[in-house]
Amino acid sequence: MTALNTTARIAVIGAGAMGAGIAQVAAQAGHPVLLLDNRPGAAAQAIEGIDRQLGKRVENGKLSAQSREATIARLHAVEAIDALADCELIIEAIVENLEVKRALFRQLEGICSPQCILASNTSSLSITGIAAQLEHPQRLLGLHFFNPAPVMALVEIVSGLASDPVLAQCLYDTAKAWGKKPVHTRSTPGFIVNRVARPFYAESLRLLQEGAADCPTLDALMREAGGFAMGAFELTDLIGHDVNYAVTCSVFDAYYQDTRFQPSLIQKELVDGGRLGRKSGQGFYTYATGAERPPAAEISSAASVEVCIAEGDLGIAKGLLGRLREQGVEVIQRDGGGVLRVGDAVLALSDGRMACQRAREDGLRNLILLDLAFDYVSAKRIAISHAAGIDPQALEQGVALLQRAGLKVSLLSDSPALAVLRTVAMLANEAADALLQGVASAADIDLAMRAGVNYPQGPLAWADAVGLSHIVRTLDNLQASYGEERYRPSLLLRRRVAEGSTLHD
Ligand code: NAI
Repeated sequence: MTALNTTARIAVIGAGAMGAGIAQVAAQAGHPVLLLDNRPGAAAQAIEGIDRQLGKRVENGKLSAQSREATIARLHAVEAIDALADCELIIEAIVENLEVKRALFRQLEGICSPQCILASNTSSLSITGIAAQLEHPQRLLGLHFFNPAPVMALVEIVSGLASDPVLAQCLYDTAKAWGKKPVHTRSTPGFIVNRVARPFYAESLRLLQEGAADCPTLDALMREAGGFAMGAFELTDLIGHDVNYAVTCSVFDAYYQDTRFQPSLIQKELVDGGRLGRKSGQGFYTYATGAERPPAAEISSAASVEVCIAEGDLGIAKGLLGRLREQGVEVIQRDGGGVLRVGDAVLALSDGRMACQRAREDGLRNLILLDLAFDYVSAKRIAISHAAGIDPQALEQGVALLQRAGLKVSLLSDSPALAVLRTVAMLANEAADALLQGVASAADIDLAMRAGVNYPQGPLAWADAVGLSHIVRTLDNLQASYGEERYRPSLLLRRRVAEGSTLHD
């Protein structure tokens, strides 16, 4: 089965934020679209809203007046469910309530033909559960758009126990024909994105709770070292803490309170206090008019550095050496265990141990740990940490070396795996577990995280680039440091390390 023909009539039920967006996407792709809502007049209002949006795009020269007219002409508000009788695809985007959705689909089965595909835009309910009481459960699938639907490329095609794989492929091909980036996923809590993204928020929240750094510093590190579009605090302020906290709680409960998904007390307190983020004027940051966001913390050094020694292979961090040479720093290469020496300081990529522990265990005086960067060649900032009692002069030299490479340096308290490394290791761990459990393919998991939440790289490909043995070592050390199951490495990561293969093999 290929994509639905554009002559196929499509219905969208629920004319709220998601339903209106999905209706717009289908109409822009050329389908006649019926929009239904149980609030009288809501569907017509939603179409007026779409028209206004498209009007702005015409004014900005991004859309022709003709396309706007053609799209609006394909959208029809209907007030009675019987009007949906001859639709070939019905997409439900109503209230997130299992019993209400079940009742709606049972009613639809009495109205539409047995060939009509039924789809739910649910983000947290089980597709298997919604389909359970249907006469033809095989024709119900999840079609999970992201907000705002006309802008976000990702669509998760969700199959429950009974879903027909041929229909899943039809929805996949149809979403592609609509200009989207679809992925296949099984109906498991959070599907791909809402599950795999949890550590992005959780690890920053944990670092904040432990006083490792403040919000602006952690956000800046995620952007300027991690390559993410936004840090966890500015992003959750934008999403709304009520929404983000509710998703975390729902995934946490769905996985029987696995501590990997544990919600944060800091975020709960914001919700309790009505500090929901941008929409309430206050979250981690203040959004009052004229309010300025505090700057990220940065340390600087006036020490002069002209030469450093690279011992052994610095692995993913070796991009630093080119930057140093470009700035006229002499880099002497010699054998060793993958560290960078400058004066009395030793710099090394974190392996998940705290600096105090690693300095003692490896006999490294004046150890400065470096965080992960998405790309050491272009990163603007880097996090470091060190043990108490470091020689202040050695610290000055280490910081000066990083400054010579053009990096801003943010000092974190001595925390295992710093900020970006711990986040990426935990994202990769969750993605690996989803892959192990057959939730989706490696390619679809990575695509989902790039297209759904704009990550600079899919977590599985990222883990391959860092080196799976380094990711597993980091997780093992995090688990040992905290004594918590939360950081246990996925079996798949251990297996691939033992096999000497990668996650995309
Ligand atoms: P919304 O509250 O903006 O809109 C829901 C609409 O459905 C309302 O207009 C309401 O009047 C209508 N409605 C409720 N029960 C109905 C019924 N029985 N029959 C007909 N219409 C009914 O909600 P939103 O945000 O658009 O979410 C809709 C669905 O999409 C939910 O399942 C939600 O979990 C899911 N979703 C939401 C996302 C978001 O960011 N808001 C993202 C992805 C999925």
